[in-house]
Amino acid sequence: MRYEDVRRRTVDAPPQELWRVVEGVGGDRGWHWRSVLWTARGRLDRLLGGAGARRGRRDPDRLVAGDPLDSWRVEQVVDGHLVRLRSQMRLPGVVELELAVERDADGRTVLVQRLRFSPRGLAGRAYWRLVAPFHGVVFGGMLAGIAGAAERAAARPRVDAVTSLYDAVGGEPVFRRLVADFYAGVAEDPVLRPLYPEELGPAEDRLRMFLVQYWGGPTTYSEQRGHPRLRMRHVAWTVGERERDAWLRIMGAALAQQDLPQAAHDAIWDHMERAAHSLVNAPPTDDSLLR
Ligand code: HEM
Repeated sequence: MRYEDVRRRTVDAPPQELWRVVEGVGGDRGWHWRSVLWTARGRLDRLLGGAGARRGRRDPDRLVAGDPLDSWRVEQVVDGHLVRLRSQMRLPGVVELELAVERDADGRTVLVQRLRFSPRGLAGRAYWRLVAPFHGVVFGGMLAGIAGAAERAAARPRVDAVTSLYDAVGGEPVFRRLVADFYAGVAEDPVLRPLYPEELGPAEDRLRMFLVQYWGGPTTYSEQRGHPRLRMRHVAWTVGERERDAWLRIMGAALAQQDLPQAAHDAIWDHMERAAHSLVNAPPTDDSLLR
């Protein structure tokens, strides 16, 4: 005798993107739903001497048969298509969870989740009847969570599918130095200094987070500040040609101080120049017309 709970969901993402999320479940990334019940179940299991839910993963991205995966063991992996897990919890029967990436007749990506339970005796059947009502919440939630993670990943723009400029130049330290040098220049500049807040530290953090995100690093800026909308955020200040040129002169000097490969320097500078020109929100002053 075997019980089965099968759920499927169309996912608005390419199959490879969904597969990356499926193969990456568990461990630090979790199981993609608010896992209060799940964690509670793991704790209870550890108390009873089972594997618990905190064994994590062998590798953050890849799975192979035999791997421990939190409270599961990996039974089978068909690359790009399927993972089958077997629960290591103390249960009156064998529980298997299968996550498969498929395509429907129209070529759309589909996530299929199969939960199978082979009960041991009466206790096993009673157990299934007891937990079955919660499967909608737990496994339905997980299905939606995995689908959502793949859809979000598919929607994220990639600066470069192979490596971002952020990674190529060595990550955060470069942007930290660049923005620190820029703000050291702002602190001394008679045109720009009056525009900026008295305390420059938080402004420095904002510009650094923005640039890190723009060039393909962590998206902390948007998590803390929302959509950049730089033009809207700059309307609070009068940005004329004088301010723009001062900003670009200081940034140009700061950028030249970083020991960057020419191509990276040029890409960053090109973006700075275009952004600065687009942020001008005040008409030219009379004397600039006379020049
Ligand atoms: C054209 C001359 C510019 C002037 C005069 C200017 C001025 C300012 C000022 C006064 C602030 C407020 C500082 C703060 O409290 O965060 C600010 C914020 C900011 N600026 Fe500019 N800026 C200029 C160009 C640029 C450019 C070219 C970029 C991007 C490449 C940029 C990105 C930002 C960002 C990300 C913030 C923080 C926005 C936030 O989250 O609140 N700015 N700018």
